[in-house]
Amino acid sequence: MIVVIGVFQMSVAEKVLEKFKTKKVDNEWSFKDSKPSERGKWTHSYHRYPAKFIPQLVEKLLDDYIEKKKEDVLINDPFFGCGTTIVSAISRGFRASGTDINKIAYLITKVKSIPIEPNYLDKKVNDFLAKIKTLTSNQTILLGVQQITPLIPKKHQERIDYWFDEVTKIKLGKILQIIKNEEDERIREFLQVAFSHCLKNTSIWLMGSTKPTRDMKKKIPEPFDILKRHLKKMVRGNEAYYKVIPEKTKKNLVEYLKIILGDARKQPDKDSTVDITITSSPYVTSYEYADLHQLSTIWLDLTEDLTDYRKDFIGTAHKKYDKVQLRSEIAKDVIEKLKNKDKKLAKNVEAFFIDMQEVFDENYRILKSGGRCCYVIGNTRLKKVDILNAEIFAESLQHSGFIFDKLIKREIHSKLLPQLRDEKTGQFASNHNADSVAYPVEYIVIGKKE
Ligand SMILES: C[S@@+](CC[C@H](N)C(=O)[O-])C[C@H]1O[C@@H](n2cnc3c(N)ncnc32)[C@H](O)[C@@H]1O
Repeated sequence: MIVVIGVFQMSVAEKVLEKFKTKKVDNEWSFKDSKPSERGKWTHSYHRYPAKFIPQLVEKLLDDYIEKKKEDVLINDPFFGCGTTIVSAISRGFRASGTDINKIAYLITKVKSIPIEPNYLDKKVNDFLAKIKTLTSNQTILLGVQQITPLIPKKHQERIDYWFDEVTKIKLGKILQIIKNEEDERIREFLQVAFSHCLKNTSIWLMGSTKPTRDMKKKIPEPFDILKRHLKKMVRGNEAYYKVIPEKTKKNLVEYLKIILGDARKQPDKDSTVDITITSSPYVTSYEYADLHQLSTIWLDLTEDLTDYRKDFIGTAHKKYDKVQLRSEIAKDVIEKLKNKDKKLAKNVEAFFIDMQEVFDENYRILKSGGRCCYVIGNTRLKKVDILNAEIFAESLQHSGFIFDKLIKREIHSKLLPQLRDEKTGQFASNHNADSVAYPVEYIVIGKKE
């Protein structure tokens, strides 16, 4: 007699869930002992940026997957943010490509990636500081000496008044006018980045908060002092960065740097040309990236309308898809659970995972065979429903054609993400108001194109 035993076949989703269940923390990926000076080396401390990578993480992935001496390597980041992956790639003499939808991210990354001859930069920065010192002195402002007209974007006047006191506003406007008059584009943009970084300090934005929160008791420091200190730090950072960049790269930077302001679903690369993608996506409705950068956006006049500007950002609450099908079974399950709590939020989460599956398809198109795509991602909880971002990415990458090559689980020690979420609203909250920890660990989900 033959007994036929049914063969139990696990689905892609089940296999993924199983792998995550047994995964232990990989201590070597926590970078517990890395010092702030190492995390902020070279140009990495030019500008604060929410949820930015530490360079050590990108460097370790490069060490593991790309031979240091390999020629003609192309590294990609579809969500480059403040450019950690891009700067790391350029520092090793590799080519770098990628996108970000955020105009300030594009400016920061461009400035951070392009090394400037240190003596020339030093001289230009000193000239600039000498100019702004006299033109923005309290005496000049209080006596109403109009040697230079402050550049204060009219259409954002109301927003600027919401964040800045009158005297600081005039000083900043004068500084910005002087920056605008700088003829060398590289220097002008370098100064814009410094200016942008100092806006948080010189406004009433609560210093400890990533989210837009006013601190009515804040003592506003002198813009000149803040800017001077930061510029000196940037000059030192540029010098150190300049030293590590191979001569070949310095001479031919346009060929090495292919970063554009644009959507992650359309990379500036030909099919099968990229060696590795190292990236971290935005998070669903965790916060509006566009709002977090509003001080820079209004002062540097980067958009006509802040609300409209948010729409193209992945993970925002402004999109709906009715016709596109979600492929991930885990995502479908999460969305079903969310629907019972909050239909609108469920739609937003669905839109996020649909956007991301399209990004994964694009990753697949540009990678060489044998190439990896590495996503750094944490899980969240909204309305008491676990949003299994990492598991969903691992499954979704496979639906885009990747094999699930490796999973790394790391403890987070030094990220700019707010740590706590309010259970009721799902929003990040100040530590004492929140009742759940949002990102104690995160994952690196690695897919391989065969
Ligand atoms: C987690 S951050 C990346 C941080 C980056 N790893 C770093 O080290 O700075 C996610 C980025 O995705 C960008 N983003 C959001 N929607 C996008 C889209 N549709 N296309 C490209 N980038 C987008 C945001 O502007 C943000 O910079």
